[in-house]
Amino acid sequence: MGQGAEGVRGAGSRPYLVSVRFIEAQPPASVRKRGTLVLVHAFPLNARMWQPQLALAAEGWHVVAPQLRGFDVDGGGEPHAASIDDYAADVIDLLDALHVESAVVAGLSMGGYAAFALLRRAPSYVGGLILADTRAEADAAAGVEARKRMLQLIVERGSTAADAVADEMIPKLVGATTIASRPDVGAELRTLIRATPPDRIADAVRAMMTRPDSTPLLATIHVPTLIIVGAEDTLTPPPSSESMHREIGGSELHVVPEAGHLSSWERPDAFNAIVSTFLAHRV
Ligand code: MLT
Repeated sequence: MGQGAEGVRGAGSRPYLVSVRFIEAQPPASVRKRGTLVLVHAFPLNARMWQPQLALAAEGWHVVAPQLRGFDVDGGGEPHAASIDDYAADVIDLLDALHVESAVVAGLSMGGYAAFALLRRAPSYVGGLILADTRAEADAAAGVEARKRMLQLIVERGSTAADAVADEMIPKLVGATTIASRPDVGAELRTLIRATPPDRIADAVRAMMTRPDSTPLLATIHVPTLIIVGAEDTLTPPPSSESMHREIGGSELHVVPEAGHLSSWERPDAFNAIVSTFLAHRV
C-alpha cells in the first residue's frame, strides 16, 4: 500500500476554511469499491498516526485521514479551532470536496469527540461509526483543571511547549506493554507531537475542554457502530467504552489486548483485523 498519498482539497462548504489537508489511500483497481473510510486523529498527534490503517484500502475502501486544522502544519495560514465543532466542520469540508455523501467515520479519542460533533451537526454524513479509545462524557471538573494546567504550561514553555506536552502525554498515550517492548516509542510520538505549533495544540486543548456531553446522543445512533479500546488504556479506560456499548443499540465492543490509548498504532494488526471484519459484515 506504500506510504499513502497526501492531498489538499478546498475551498469546502464554508467560506472561512480555505482547504483541508489529508492523507489517503485508494483501493486497487482490481478490487470492488466499498466506500469511504474517514479516520479522525487523536490529540496531540495528527493524521500520520493512521499510517498503519491505510492498508485497509486493499479491501476496497478509500481511506482518508484529515489533518484537523492547525495540526502538522507550518505557520499560521489556517483558521483557528474555536470548538470541537470546527474539527467536525473540517471533516464535512473534506467529504464535500471529495463528493462523498456518506462515509464510515472512525475517530480515536479526540477524533471520537469530533465524530460526536459531526453526528450532532450533520448525521447524514455518517453511514457507519467506529469509536476507538474515546468517551462520550464531557470533561469532569478535575479534567477541566488538568486542561487549564496544560494551557498554562504551553504559555510558560513558549517555543518548547510541544516538548512539554509530549513529556506529559506520551506516558499516557501508550500502554505498559508498548512502553516495555518498544524503546523507540517516545521518540516516534514526540516527532508527531512536535509537528504542531504550540498555539494550535492550545486550540485543541480548549476545544476538548469545552466540548459538550455526548451521552444523550448515544441512544440516537442507529448506524452500524464498532467500539474499540485498548485493554491498557488509562486515558479513556475500557469502562467508558462499555457504557457507550450499552447505550448504542446493536453496537459491537472489542478490547485490544496489550494496547493502551493508541490501540490503532500500538497493535495495528489486531486493530485492523477488528475493523476489517466490521466493515465486511456490518456496513
Ligand atoms: C486524545 O488522545 O485525543 C486525548 O488524549 C483526549 C483527551 O485528552 O481527552
